Amino acid sequence: MRRGQGPLLEALWDRRLLLISGKGGVGKSTLSAAIARAAVRAGRTVLLAELTPGLEGPSMLGPLVGAREPGPEVTQVEPGLSFVRLAAPSGHRRFLQDVLPLRLMADAAMRSRALRRFLEAGPALWEMGVMYHLLDLVRHTGKDGGFAHPLCVVDLPATGHALALASLPRSLLTVLPGGPIGRAVREGFGLLQDTRQTAVLLATLPEPLPVSEALQLEGEMRELGLPLAAALLNRMPDNPFPEPHSRAALDTLLAAHGPHEGSRALARLDVARSSHVRLSAGLSAPVLCLPERPATGPALVEQLAEALSPARARQRAGGTS
Ligand SMILES: Nc1ncnc2c1ncn2[C@@H]1O[C@H](COP(=O)(O)OP(=O)(O)OP(=O)(O)O)[C@@H](O)[C@H]1O
Ligand SMILES: [Mg+2]
Repeated sequence: MRRGQGPLLEALWDRRLLLISGKGGVGKSTLSAAIARAAVRAGRTVLLAELTPGLEGPSMLGPLVGAREPGPEVTQVEPGLSFVRLAAPSGHRRFLQDVLPLRLMADAAMRSRALRRFLEAGPALWEMGVMYHLLDLVRHTGKDGGFAHPLCVVDLPATGHALALASLPRSLLTVLPGGPIGRAVREGFGLLQDTRQTAVLLATLPEPLPVSEALQLEGEMRELGLPLAAALLNRMPDNPFPEPHSRAALDTLLAAHGPHEGSRALARLDVARSSHVRLSAGLSAPVLCLPERPATGPALVEQLAEALSPARARQRAGGTS
C-alpha cells in the first residue's frame, strides 16, 4: 500500500457505483474482485457485477470470488458480498415490468419473439438493457428502506463497453427521445455522470503502449461526460532498490560485468517507473498502483485486496492483529 492511497480508497468505498474499465487482459476482472473484497474488508456491503456480452460463456469473475452459481440473479457469496451477471434480457424484462401495469404482461411481452428481436436488434438497445439491469440493482431498496446494494463494483468486459454505455444517450435518445426508454436512459446516464455516486476506474499496465492507450481513453471518456476517478496501474514490479545509492552501486557493478540476467529485470523496473511518471503526468485523475504478485485466481485477488486495505496494513504494522 503506497502512502496517500488510503483517503482515495475511502472516498471510493463511499460511492454507489465503481466501473472498472480498460483494455483486454490488463487485469480488470482480478482488480474488480480485489476492489470488491477490499471494500468488504472496509465494512461495506458490496455487489460485484460482471458484464459480459452474453450469458453463454462461463463467468470469469464469479470463480475469482467463489460465487457458486454466477447468473443474472443476485446471489450471496458471503456476508457483505454478493454477485450478479448483468444481462440485457434481464434489464429488458425489468424495464417492461416497470412500464407495463402487470408483471404478467411483462412476462408475456418478453415471450414475444418480435419484441425480443426488436430489443436485441441494435447495440444501443442491448446497452439499454444492461444499463437498466444495473440501474434496477442500484436503486433497489430493502425492507428497512435502505439500499439493498449500497456499493456496486462492475467489471466491464472491454473499454468499448464503458464508452458504449456512455454514448447511449447520444445514440438512443436521437432515435427514442421521449417515453419510458428515454427516461430510463437519462436516469442511467445521470447516475454514470454523477461523480458523487459513480467512479470510473481505468485499469492499465506500466508499459509504454498500455499507458498511451489509457491516456487516449481518458480523453474519449471525458468527451462523453464520463470523467475518470482514478487509473489503476496494475502489475507494478516491486522495487528492490528504493535507495538511489544502492541502485547506482548495482548499475556500476553490472556495467563492469557486461550484460547480466538481472539487467532485464532492472530494465523492466525502469520502464514501469517511467510509465508511472508518464501516466501520472498525463492524467488529471490520481493513479493507484497495484503490485505484481506471483499468484493467480482467488489467491491473487486476496493479495491485491490486502494491498488495497490501508487500515489492515496499519493494524499489522502496529502489531494489533
Ligand atoms: N497484479 C497482478 N499480478 C500478477 N498477475 C496478475 C495481476 N493482475 C492480473 N494478473 C493476471 O493477468 C491475467 C489477466 O487478468 P484478468 O483476467 O483479470 O484481466 P482482464 O482485463 O479481466 O482480461 P479480459 O479483458 O480478458 O477480461 C490473469 O492471468 C491474472 O491472473
Ligand atoms: Mg476480465
